[in-house]
Amino acid sequence: MTSLPGDSSPNSTEHILGDVKFDHLPVMLAEVLEVFEEIEDGLIVDATIGGAGHAQALLQQAPGRQLLGIDRDPSAVKVSRDRLAEFGQKAQVVQGRFDEIGQILDLDGRQLNGALFDLGVSSHQLDTPSRGFSHRYAAPLDMRMNPDDALEAATIVNSYGEQELTDLLRTNSDERFAYRIAKSIVSARPIESTQELADIVRSAVPAAARRKGRHPAMRTFQALRIAVNNELALIEPALAQTIERLRPGGRLVVLSYHSGEDRIVKHVLRDAADGVCVCPSSLPCICGSEPNVRLLRRKVVRPTEAEIERNPRAASARFRAAERLFVGEA
Ligand SMILES: C[S@@+](CC[C@H](N)C(=O)[O-])C[C@H]1O[C@@H](n2cnc3c(N)ncnc32)[C@H](O)[C@@H]1O
Repeated sequence: MTSLPGDSSPNSTEHILGDVKFDHLPVMLAEVLEVFEEIEDGLIVDATIGGAGHAQALLQQAPGRQLLGIDRDPSAVKVSRDRLAEFGQKAQVVQGRFDEIGQILDLDGRQLNGALFDLGVSSHQLDTPSRGFSHRYAAPLDMRMNPDDALEAATIVNSYGEQELTDLLRTNSDERFAYRIAKSIVSARPIESTQELADIVRSAVPAAARRKGRHPAMRTFQALRIAVNNELALIEPALAQTIERLRPGGRLVVLSYHSGEDRIVKHVLRDAADGVCVCPSSLPCICGSEPNVRLLRRKVVRPTEAEIERNPRAASARFRAAERLFVGEA
């Protein structure tokens, strides 16, 4: 793996992995660093380490800090291990899903001083043509973050019923033309490639929607990716386990990228701040239903215009942060 020249942003990730360029600018980095600036030295988990852009900056911010990175995508694990090698034992990266965070931490009984969730997909995943995440490149309909997972986008596209597809498009991407797209998909089957799918979606939407804004298939691809990776269902249990393992004064930051994700994050944090039980529904309550966090920002924070100019992929980001309370502080 080689570092490329020309990396103008100090924490952008720009590496070659096999024949694929890994280039991801960490989103709302200044806001993330501001939240973690005040916490005590100790362990931070980056639950979605990706190319380690945030992680590297977090390790640079406090020399006494340790970081545990998690990612379900083995190529992200490889790149981030390489990038964080300079920090030696202070940085550790494991492959796993973030809803396994409890098990991962319990292996050595560690508590957290901080946790970061930067949800969704990395630029690396989107820009690797063969992985099928993007309508811009011809590829098989894959979209798995972990290539060992069983479900591929092709299975959903070629086997879900019209109603199931409509619901999926509405829930996962607020697609206005969900029914028309679902109907077109069902009648065009079998659909083999990303480009075929992109063309079918383009033809399915009204002409006016084709002419303006982003590619009309972007939302469909987002909805499929979320379904393939079961993304929404994993957020609540992961955040609940994380809050449980934060030390008093420990802080949590979550970056989400669409309303469906943000709704879940908002509810989990509000419930934890209001004292609603935050334990995973499959387990008995151990949180005592006491308020156990305070919200560090009352409202969702959005990226600045300047950041969006620099990094258009930051445009949809929504930032929320909370701090674990001390016993009796509520
Ligand atoms: C937006 S990127 C993170 C980028 C990272 N903050 C950086 O600065 O490079 C999101 C990453 O989260 C990973 N991911 C998504 N869902 C996950 C899950 N349930 N468990 C673990 N990793 C996940 C993806 O594979 C991807 O690498």
